[in-house]
Amino acid sequence: MTVDSYNLIRPLLFGLDAERAHNLAFWAGGWAQRFPQPEVKLDQTLAREALGLRFPSPLGLAAGLDKGARLLPLWKSLGFGHVEIGTVTPRPQAGNPRPRLFRLPSEGLILNRMGFNSEGADVVAARLKLRPSGLIVGGNLGKNKETPEEKALDDYVAAFRHIAPQVDYVALNVSSPNTPGLRNLQAPEALKPLLAGMLAVRKEMGLEAQPLLLKLAPDLAFEDLDAIVEVAVASGISGLIATNTTLDRGIVSDANRPKVEAWGAGGLSGKGLAPKARAVRLRILERLQGRLPLVACGGLGSAPDVAQALEDGAVLAQIYSALIFEGPGLVKKILCGLAQKSG
Ligand SMILES: Cc1cc2nc3c(=O)[nH]c(=O)nc-3n(C[C@H](O)[C@H](O)[C@H](O)COP(=O)(O)O)c2cc1C
Repeated sequence: MTVDSYNLIRPLLFGLDAERAHNLAFWAGGWAQRFPQPEVKLDQTLAREALGLRFPSPLGLAAGLDKGARLLPLWKSLGFGHVEIGTVTPRPQAGNPRPRLFRLPSEGLILNRMGFNSEGADVVAARLKLRPSGLIVGGNLGKNKETPEEKALDDYVAAFRHIAPQVDYVALNVSSPNTPGLRNLQAPEALKPLLAGMLAVRKEMGLEAQPLLLKLAPDLAFEDLDAIVEVAVASGISGLIATNTTLDRGIVSDANRPKVEAWGAGGLSGKGLAPKARAVRLRILERLQGRLPLVACGGLGSAPDVAQALEDGAVLAQIYSALIFEGPGLVKKILCGLAQKSG
């Protein structure tokens, strides 16, 4: 999907059911990327070292939009410095029944309960073999729904074995609200063996140098967050991503809350998530004191938002919901804003 063609079909997309719109945009994007795309020229001053990698820009696409690594050339041409593909589960699964994706354009909010619809790790890994150069790709991993919590490590390991050799970093998703019990893996007593197990398989595969990150929810009590930060630092993983979507319906305006509540279960993302996600990041940064890098995500939608997240101390920033509402031109807009600030 090019910038111009998105603007052209935007009214059509917003007239459709959200998941149909997503599928149509992906189909169009798949067509568009078969032809050479004009690439956004990245200002040299935007490049940065983080996680031991060189990122062409600090702005990345958050996990969940390109779960199957289908549109990597397109994301690159838009100017993203990195793309987090996934969440990928070890075995294919359909996710939750539809409808499972809803938009509230007046508030820039999305509600989703996709539930890790995934083609499975081997299919996605095969596609990643054809990934374009010059784009950092992260692999976001999860567990299959039917896998019991106590067997979760087996699933993350199985997905890791397929995906890790094809990506630049791996993110463990223990923070989606749409897989029953998944967020319990954030509890220190569950997290410790999970991280130890993942670091062991990383070593066994000779991938010690590959960054391993943990993606956290915005709904944790600060005391729990503090404990998680200590477990993460002690474990030897490479960094944190904050945040995933929220279960908190309080971020919706009073006028729209009944409508959103009628949509049912799921995680909220977009503009209204920004203050909550930032508060969580500030707490994490305060506790980290530079011991691990943090990737900012959640409610970011403009150059000032991203600049603030970086000034707060995050090493990189990721967007998702704002891209849906503003279209692919948003990437260039944010990057130009950042370049002006730094230049
Ligand atoms: C439709 C949808 C699907 C998502 N799927 C995933 C996912 O599979 N894995 C994940 O880690 N995060 C997923 N997310 C969360 C985003 O990566 C991001 O953490 C969250 O949306 C907050 O950022 P935003 O406010 O910029 O959208 C999803 C978000 C949306 C809107």
